[in-house]
Amino acid sequence: MNLRPETGLTFDDVLLVPKKSSIRSRSEVSTKTTLTKEIELNIPILSANMDTVTESSMAIAMAQQGGLGILHRFMSIERQAEQVRKVKRAESLVVLNPLTICPSATVAEARQIMKAEDVGGLVVVDEQKHVLGLVATRDVLLATDEMASVSTVMTPRERLVMAQAGESLESARQKLYQARVEKLPLLDEEGRLAGLITVQDIIKIQDHPFATKDQHGRLRVGAAVGVRPEDLERAAACVEAGADVLVVDIAHGHSQHTLEMVSRLKKTFPVVALVAGNVATPEGVRELAEAGADAVKVGVGAGSICITRVVTGFGVPQLTAVAECAEEGHRLNVPIIADGGMRTSGDVTKALAAGASAVMLGSMLAGTDEAPGAEIVRQGRRYKVVRGMASLSANVERRKLDKPLQEEEYSEELWSEVVPEGVEALVPYRGKVRDILHQIVGGLRSGMSYAGAHTLQELWQNAEFIRITPAGQKESGAHDVSLI
Ligand code: XMP
Repeated sequence: MNLRPETGLTFDDVLLVPKKSSIRSRSEVSTKTTLTKEIELNIPILSANMDTVTESSMAIAMAQQGGLGILHRFMSIERQAEQVRKVKRAESLVVLNPLTICPSATVAEARQIMKAEDVGGLVVVDEQKHVLGLVATRDVLLATDEMASVSTVMTPRERLVMAQAGESLESARQKLYQARVEKLPLLDEEGRLAGLITVQDIIKIQDHPFATKDQHGRLRVGAAVGVRPEDLERAAACVEAGADVLVVDIAHGHSQHTLEMVSRLKKTFPVVALVAGNVATPEGVRELAEAGADAVKVGVGAGSICITRVVTGFGVPQLTAVAECAEEGHRLNVPIIADGGMRTSGDVTKALAAGASAVMLGSMLAGTDEAPGAEIVRQGRRYKVVRGMASLSANVERRKLDKPLQEEEYSEELWSEVVPEGVEALVPYRGKVRDILHQIVGGLRSGMSYAGAHTLQELWQNAEFIRITPAGQKESGAHDVSLI
C-alpha cells in the first residue's frame, strides 16, 4: 500500500497562532489580492459557479463589493452570454453600446425591451445611428395607446442634452445636474450615437468605490465552461459578450481533457484571464499552469454539498490541499483559489493564511437574495435551496439542455446512468450579499490583525497553524452556555 506519512488536515483541525501586531484598527488592513496578472480584487472572494449561487444578480453584487462572480454553465450558451452582458451593462463609466430602438417601433415593444433588459430608457435612433430622441420608462408606462409609435412619446432630440464621446465624468455630471436630466447620449464625430452616461451609473460609482471593474468602468465577471467540444463555442460567446475571466471547472481538473481544453482556450483567447480546476495536488497545479492557466482552483470533495469523497473514496482534506498547492503556486507565480468547505469567516482566513490568493464560496452565499431560486418557508423559518452540480437534480437540468425528453424518460435514463456526487439541501435565508460579505471581510480583517498582517502576503508569511484536538475544537465555539 502506498500510504503518505502525513495527516491530511482541514479547517477544524487547526487554529492560527496569534502574533505580535502593530495594527491598531481593522481599517489599516488591506484585503486586496491578485486573481490573475490583470485582475485585482479588493476582497479575495469569488461566488461559486453553481446554479443555486451565481447568475447575473449575484455576479453584479459580488463585483460591486470588490469580489467576483463566476456564472455557472448549466444553461444554454445564449443565456449564459446574455447573463454576461447583463453584468457588463449593470454599471459603467460610459455605456458603450446603449440599447436603442427605431422611431417607428411601438410603445408596447419599447416597454417589453426595457422590462427584459432591465433598463430605464432607450435611445431612439435612425438607421445610421443618428440620435432622434430618448424614450424613458415613464413615457411608455404613462402612454395610453400601446400601439402608438415611439416617436410620439419620446423626448425629441431638440430637448436632449448631449456631449461628444470622451466627455469626462465630472463634466458629464455637471451637464446632467444643470439640465436636471437623467441621461447624456454621447456622439462621435459624425454625430452618431457612441455611448451613454446616466445619473444612475454616476450614483453607482459613488456607492461602490471598491467595485471590481474593467478599464471601461464596467463590472468584471467570470464565466464557467466545461471541456466538451461545444464549450469552445460557449467560451467564444461569453468572451464576445465581455467576460473577463473564463473558468474551466471540472470535478477532476488534473485530467488530460482538462489540460487540452486549457491550452486550447489559452491559444484562442490569449487576453482573457483563464482559471482552471479543480485539483488537490501540486502536480495538478503545475500541469494546469503549464497548459496555460493563469490561476488554479483547489478543492476535491470539500464542498458542503459534495459527496465525491463518500462516493469515490478520493480527495485531500481542504487545508492540506490548499497549503500544498499554494506552495507550488507561489513557486510558479500562479495564484491559488481555495474552493469549497468554508463555513465561517475564520475558515476563509485559514484558507488564505494557508497560501490561497482568493476563496470561492458556495453555500455561504446560497441563502442570499441575489442567489437564484425562491425562498422556502419551513416551520416559520426561511430557507433557500443549494445543490451540488453533480447532484441528481442538477443532472436532470443538464440533460434537459442536451436533449428535450419527457419527464418520465428523464427519471428512467437518470436512474440507470447517473451516479450523483452531490446533494441538494436547504440553507438558511441570509439577506443581502453585501451584508454577508461585510461579516466575512470583517472577520478576515480582524484575523489579519491577529497575525500582525497588513496584507495577504504578510498573512502568508506570518501564519503559524497549530493542530487542535476535539476538546480544543469544542473550546473554540460557544460552550457551556444555553444560546439565546
Ligand atoms: P461550498 O462548501 O462553498 O462549496 O458550498 C462549493 C464548491 O463545491 C464544489 N461542488 C461540488 N463538488 N459535487 C462535488 O463533489 C458536486 O455536486 C458539487 N457542486 C459543487 C464546487 O467546487 C463549488 O465551488
